[in-house]
Amino acid sequence: MTPELTVAEQAALTSGRDAWHTTPVESAGLPAITVADGPHGVRLQTDPDEMLRGQPATCFPPAVATASTWDPDLLRRMGEALGDECRAMDVAVLLGPGINLKRSPLGGRNFEYFSEDPLLAGVLATAWVSGLQSRNVGASLKHFAVNSQETDRLRVSADVDERTLREMYLSAFKRVITQARPWTVMCAYNKVNGVYASQNHWLLTEVLRNEWGFEGVLVSDWGAVADRVAAVAAGLDLTMPGPDDAGDRDLEEALATGRLDSAQLARAAGRVAALVERAAARLPGDYDQAAHHALAREIACRAIVLLKNDGGLLPLAADGTGTIAVIGEFARTPRYQGGGSSQITPTRLDDALTEITAATAATVLFAPGYLTGDSAAQESAAQDGETEAQEDENLLAEAVALAAASDVALVFVGSEHETEGADRDGIDLPAAHLALIEEVAKANPRTVVILSNGAVLATAPWDITVPAVVEGWLLGQAGGGAVADVIFGRVNPSGRLAETIPLRIQDHPSYLDFPGEHGHVRYGEGLFVGYRGFDAREQEVAYPFGFGLSYTTFGYGQATATATEQGIEIHVPVTNTGERDGREVVQVYVSFPGSAVSRARRELKAFASVPLTAGETKDVVLTIDRDDLAYWDTRLNRWVVEGGEYHCAVGASSRDLRTTAVVEVQGDEVRVPLSADSTVGEWLADPRGEQLLRQALASMPETESGSMARFFADPTLFLFLTGIPLGRLTSVPGSPLTAEAIAKLVAAAG
Ligand code: BGC
Repeated sequence: MTPELTVAEQAALTSGRDAWHTTPVESAGLPAITVADGPHGVRLQTDPDEMLRGQPATCFPPAVATASTWDPDLLRRMGEALGDECRAMDVAVLLGPGINLKRSPLGGRNFEYFSEDPLLAGVLATAWVSGLQSRNVGASLKHFAVNSQETDRLRVSADVDERTLREMYLSAFKRVITQARPWTVMCAYNKVNGVYASQNHWLLTEVLRNEWGFEGVLVSDWGAVADRVAAVAAGLDLTMPGPDDAGDRDLEEALATGRLDSAQLARAAGRVAALVERAAARLPGDYDQAAHHALAREIACRAIVLLKNDGGLLPLAADGTGTIAVIGEFARTPRYQGGGSSQITPTRLDDALTEITAATAATVLFAPGYLTGDSAAQESAAQDGETEAQEDENLLAEAVALAAASDVALVFVGSEHETEGADRDGIDLPAAHLALIEEVAKANPRTVVILSNGAVLATAPWDITVPAVVEGWLLGQAGGGAVADVIFGRVNPSGRLAETIPLRIQDHPSYLDFPGEHGHVRYGEGLFVGYRGFDAREQEVAYPFGFGLSYTTFGYGQATATATEQGIEIHVPVTNTGERDGREVVQVYVSFPGSAVSRARRELKAFASVPLTAGETKDVVLTIDRDDLAYWDTRLNRWVVEGGEYHCAVGASSRDLRTTAVVEVQGDEVRVPLSADSTVGEWLADPRGEQLLRQALASMPETESGSMARFFADPTLFLFLTGIPLGRLTSVPGSPLTAEAIAKLVAAAG
């Protein structure tokens, strides 16, 4: 039951008490509740002077890594663990997950987002939210919507056509909202087609609430509200952070002047009150730090993507003798998360150097190889009075000598920093890291490169110089152990790319339209985001979407597909054909060659992460919801499933498709009303329209310049005519189709 509140209380309740609490209304029995970032750990900030430091909490792998697991069960378990930590810290709402599409590899927050594909992002986030909320802790699905860049993030307008918006940028949100019912949704900073997301009635009320049935609280991103009154009128409930006394007064004034309807404010306050009451049902909890660290390690292991492994260099034998050179500061000083609001203070931090040393009987020797901002080597260089360039050269020489004298070289390199608030300026490794790979690879042919990065890094052309490449992303606090697990084969890698690795940034579909200028960014590639764009242009990539190797191999039998009322059901036998137990991520990409609209060549529509012991075969069953076959029809303003043959290609990546099943799907009843503005072609494509038009033409008398019926019989003239709106035929010389005749046709066509 929502309590009775005065207008002043309603206004106060719709903005925060401070950065991390709602405003309490004691008279109504509403306490303050606590919210905290999010998304890969709980950042409970208790010291107001420590901007980005929270209480210690498990730093799970960020979304860039969890997405590479392609495993909703793991994400659910991570959500549950986060829920337990929230309960232990009395946090009612965790500000995550972030599910915006990775439109460009340059996106500064890509490490916080899942994928360039909306199905993958949506399915994983649904599991995360369900896990978290099973603990009676609310999620805050963010950032709604089209928040795919950091440049000018508080003002920029993301200009996107409606079909692209619906099918790509809103799609994951719709899935999570309808399937996992997050308690809250956080609106984005940016504008969408010219209107701030926080004030966008179409987005917040028409789509999110009216179409998708969202009943929770819509909270602003921190500082995203430019005009409180406009925001409440658009459907926003809670402005953060607070307090916002001036905004509260604006609301009261707007009610007095009639700019705002009292029902709108009452509704927003009522929703916040309901959230507070819902949160009160949460019981305090506790969690086992060691168990959560172990879970963080398990997820990190599953996130690692083996990109290259020529000659089976990996895994290394753990009982091996000889010397392993561990090279690169990141092995000792791990990069394990990105910067900004998601920064977690970990309960402990494992590094790869220590974990590798502990995992093997071989001698492990270390050389830092390059300087990083916070490395010990940096300090010693400064003490010795050397320039950075000199120190880099010394470090390189030392690393090369170590590699030459070792049996294998493990080279840890990556991006130096990624942070909220700034996009990246390129996808290349730092020059010192590139030089390190080049020289170490010359010194030791058994060189493995291990990457640490929050977003895609170019692997071309250096990857051809080394036999093995491990994509280690940002793996959270237990990443060091996870890398050791994969290097020594205690875990068989099963991560798959959730984003394409291009050969060059210039090849990327977003390249010409990122990050925009003068307050606007045009989503010029439209539907062709990520792999959809590379596939449409048949462009070569370094590693395709969905790609990842294993220490074993998998074989696919013939797939079969059946149309059901709910959509499509696919069966495919998959066999582990190697000698190690492993896990295959079976992926289904759908094409519809007969489409009447522009479509991606193939789109991910289903996937399953399947454990298979050596030699084992499983019949893998995958389902595609009928809704996921639909495209957004801008003429009808609704989703349409086209009827015809759908090709379901099943395989190990978007470019390694092993078997295809074709299935006939009944289309939706679609009839676009005919008008004078419909083209002759459109009239003829419609059975009733065709009949009426032909009858009308046949009944018309010959004119001096010939009959329109004859025009239609001439194949060239016919082609010429098909693109012309019927109404314009009045101006074709000699046309018997008068405005009156056309009006009659339109009326008859109905
Ligand atoms: C970020 C949000 C975050 C909020 C609170 C904003 O800067 O965009 O993702 O939840 O701050 O820290």
